[in-house]
Amino acid sequence: MAKITNLTALSTGRLTAKKALKGLVAMSESVAVVGAGLVGCLAAIALAKRGYKVTVFDYRKDPREKSTTDRNLRSINLAISSRGITSLEFVDVEMAERVLKDIIPMKGRMIHHLNGREESQIYGLFGETINSIDRAVLNNYLLDELDRFDSDKVQLKFSHKLKKIKFRDPKELQSCVFSTDDGVEQVYGVNFIVGCDGCYSTTRDQMQREVRMRYSQEYIDCCYIELYIPPSKTYVEEFRGNFSLTPDHLHIWPRHKFMLIALANKDGSFTSTFFGPWKLVESLLESRSRVEEFLQENFPDAMALMGLENAVQCFMTYPKGALMCVECEPYHVPGGRCIILGDAAHSMVPFYGQGMNCGFEDVKVLMKLLDANHGDRAKAFQAYTETRHRDLTAIIKLAVRNYREMSHDVTSMAFLLKKKIDSWLGKLLKDTWLPLYTMVSFRADIPYSKAVAISNRQNKILNVIQALVVASVSVLGYKALRLCYPIIRRLKRS
Ligand SMILES: Cc1cc2nc3c(=O)[nH]c(=O)nc-3n(C[C@H](O)[C@H](O)[C@H](O)COP(=O)(O)OP(=O)(O)OC[C@H]3O[C@@H](n4cnc5c(N)ncnc54)[C@H](O)[C@@H]3O)c2cc1C
Ligand SMILES: *[C@@H]1O[C@H](CO)[C@@H](O)[C@H](O)[C@H]1NC(C)=O
Repeated sequence: MAKITNLTALSTGRLTAKKALKGLVAMSESVAVVGAGLVGCLAAIALAKRGYKVTVFDYRKDPREKSTTDRNLRSINLAISSRGITSLEFVDVEMAERVLKDIIPMKGRMIHHLNGREESQIYGLFGETINSIDRAVLNNYLLDELDRFDSDKVQLKFSHKLKKIKFRDPKELQSCVFSTDDGVEQVYGVNFIVGCDGCYSTTRDQMQREVRMRYSQEYIDCCYIELYIPPSKTYVEEFRGNFSLTPDHLHIWPRHKFMLIALANKDGSFTSTFFGPWKLVESLLESRSRVEEFLQENFPDAMALMGLENAVQCFMTYPKGALMCVECEPYHVPGGRCIILGDAAHSMVPFYGQGMNCGFEDVKVLMKLLDANHGDRAKAFQAYTETRHRDLTAIIKLAVRNYREMSHDVTSMAFLLKKKIDSWLGKLLKDTWLPLYTMVSFRADIPYSKAVAISNRQNKILNVIQALVVASVSVLGYKALRLCYPIIRRLKRS
């Protein structure tokens, strides 16, 4: 039997007093944030700070409770960069400082070649870093931030799975139907809904029945498996911790069709991820010895750190993740009734390290629009869809493209030459010439779509310079050879 819990008894009561209160009515509007993941938590904090009465729902149990068994015990880390950090700071500077206290700065990529050679490729032109952060720790810190609000401002409801949304007239309450652990359906009426329920979003699914949403979902042929490098047995002075690799780099073992990466954790361990085509993984999994051979042959140095037996065990038994891109438009239901943010609106492959960063930026963009429109949700949501779409499609495309760069291009001479010229120009023409990676990761003030447009323009120039460099090197080489030829001939004769 459906039990009706009217969350907004309070605001419905106030609806009659609407005319008298005017400005204040907006302050007591209620919102359901669906999903207490990274983006949902930040959205909830930002909305609560604007006076909305927020209830956050998640179908999981509270991940901070020790008894929660679906909690992932190993750390899985993410790279947070400028867009993520500045969006956290936009919501609340002190909150940002608290939730980011455990980050580990990474100033570049460390390429591990098959022959064991290591090669550092610095990300920023001026020492900028991206940062490794434990996803679960960050999520828990954000939940703690929600607990700081009074319970009449923010409520957290775990074990609530969104099943259905009944969209109503914008002036009425939108009703959300949840299933709970005890099998009882709960119905909540709220003024509006912010869906942050991840790539398989139920909010989005429900919206598709209400608005004519353009929607696409595409899997890329890549499987990922999380592996683990334990802390070293000895403390390393230089790294200030028990790290067996330098913690200030994102480690990559590029092997063209597949690759391994690793990011440092505070305790000295590294979370490592294998990425490769499904066919390859499936054929390897046919036998233990195949996996063993494959890992040892392609990643001997990484195996020395993981322990081959351990790595094989993880490779065989850990979940195999699929990677997909989700694009849709619009992101909202007219009348300011509902909007989706984060992976719910745009799922991207992880190769630019931007999924969460972009989701946090969604929150900032939406809050700025709400502020600019004095809380007029209908206008703000409409403007959000209109202005945000080009940036979201841009980063989804860039993320796919970066797989090739990480797994293959980083080892090619032509790529490295171009990159050299690119960063040389970037240093020389500070603020006039900006490498794409710099714009995406370190320049939150440049929207993704603009970054791509600028980069395309620069690329044309870059190709010309690269061709000139290659040509002049060959001409010089030819001249040098002509000069040396008589000498060589003489030497040969004698
Ligand atoms: C291998 C990998 C590496 C990545 N690396 C990076 C990186 O380095 N940098 C980066 O910025 N991003 C990275 N990402 C992307 C990043 O993880 C996501 O973009 C981010 O987690 C999205 O957050 P979210 O809150 O939108 O969704 P989620 O984190 O998926 O959270 C959704 C929440 O909604 C809840 N939920 C779902 N359905 C319902 C329902 N029906 N009812 C109630 N609750 C529901 C879920 O329980 C969950 O808590 C990576 C992703 C992968 C897979
Ligand atoms: C870190 O190194 C120290 C000695 O250098 C050692 O005593 C300690 O056990 C190590 N920690 C881990 C987690 O291995």
